[in-house]
Amino acid sequence: MTSNLIEGNQRTDRVTSLLSAIADVGRDSARGGYSRPVYSTAELDLRSWFIAEAIARGLDVETDRNGIMWAWWDTPSGDRSGAVVTGSHLDSVPGGGAFDGPLGVASALAAVDVLRAQGRQPDRALAIAVFPEEEGSRYGIACLGSRILTGAISLDKALALTDEDGNTFAEQSAAAGLDPRHMGPDPERLAQIGAFVELHVEQGRGLIDLGQAVAIGSSILGHGRWRLSFTGQGNHAGTTLMQDRRDPLVAAGALIGQIPSVARAHDGARATVGRLQPIPGGTNVIASRVDVWLDVRHPDDAVTAQVVAEISQRADELAREQGCAVSVREESLSPTVSFDAGLRRRLEVTLPDAPVLDTGAGHDAGILASHVPTAMLFVRNPTGVSHAHEEHVEDADAEIGAEALAAVLVSDLGL
Ligand code: GLV
Ligand code: MN
Ligand code: MN
Ligand code: MN
Repeated sequence: MTSNLIEGNQRTDRVTSLLSAIADVGRDSARGGYSRPVYSTAELDLRSWFIAEAIARGLDVETDRNGIMWAWWDTPSGDRSGAVVTGSHLDSVPGGGAFDGPLGVASALAAVDVLRAQGRQPDRALAIAVFPEEEGSRYGIACLGSRILTGAISLDKALALTDEDGNTFAEQSAAAGLDPRHMGPDPERLAQIGAFVELHVEQGRGLIDLGQAVAIGSSILGHGRWRLSFTGQGNHAGTTLMQDRRDPLVAAGALIGQIPSVARAHDGARATVGRLQPIPGGTNVIASRVDVWLDVRHPDDAVTAQVVAEISQRADELAREQGCAVSVREESLSPTVSFDAGLRRRLEVTLPDAPVLDTGAGHDAGILASHVPTAMLFVRNPTGVSHAHEEHVEDADAEIGAEALAAVLVSDLGL
């Protein structure tokens, strides 16, 4: 991984050359794309890359007690209050794309290069923030770092979360050099943030359809995650007659087949099962338990609750039909978030041609929005596909994104 030195205002590939330095980190040949779970070797390598790039730009890097990295471009006075903060995350979903998260981090570094090349010296501190476990792909709860920072999740609950290998978040955080006893809500840190702007690859087709490279975010759809645990009787695949079975995987499979029709009955609802874990998971074993992770999203939080209630009801009926039982546990729930109106208006003045789009994807910006003025920028993804290796951003669009971010930091946020 080589350092991408600042080369003036002529660069047309600032962002993609930054990303090319990490193109081999966390590649997943089995799934395709990248698997960069929080605090894995891959994610730790990306954190080292970020620190090196920030230091190469003369930024002052610190990792806070919650594992959030901050790279500061200080003012001569050293005052960090009311800082303008931009950034995103470096962890990925299993088999994810190259841009979800890293694009926002690389664009923030590139925006610093643009501002430096313009000879600017901020009179307000600027920071690049990198949040851990945005995807929740290791510990199940998305935006875990920003939730802990803001107190949106209790620390005890967060520290006790386990990954598939049974490691707790507390253990893994300690292995990454943090002290779990010192983690938790950080109102002083939040009070330093005057505004937060996250740039992110668009995860749908909005900008393709509009023929534009960059959009301003308006809102994030309310979304949540639930775990449905079906329990039955584990048994032998060859000796257990069909009429003698209590197979929880049969109930879970039937439920998954019904979820699309439940969701379609509520305009705009999205319901997904992307993860299913039969326990113990042997080919010749009738499972004793199946965990089904359900993701539901809708702009109206009451509709989300209704969809989950209907799915839970069906789960109960289908479990009973198989002589099984089911329990439903809410893992996380985030209401619909509208970004700060004043900040958004200022972005609209700076980027008058940019359309305004909402998103069905969750972001740390959505968690921070309850505490600080927050906005988002989206950069066109020509495939319209995300959370998959086909996710893409053209070099030219990435550059337009970084320049838009730099413009926002300059003229809207008082640099
Ligand atoms: C994370 O990207 C999510 O929206 O689930
Ligand atoms: Mn993301
Ligand atoms: Mn994502
Ligand atoms: Mn996300």
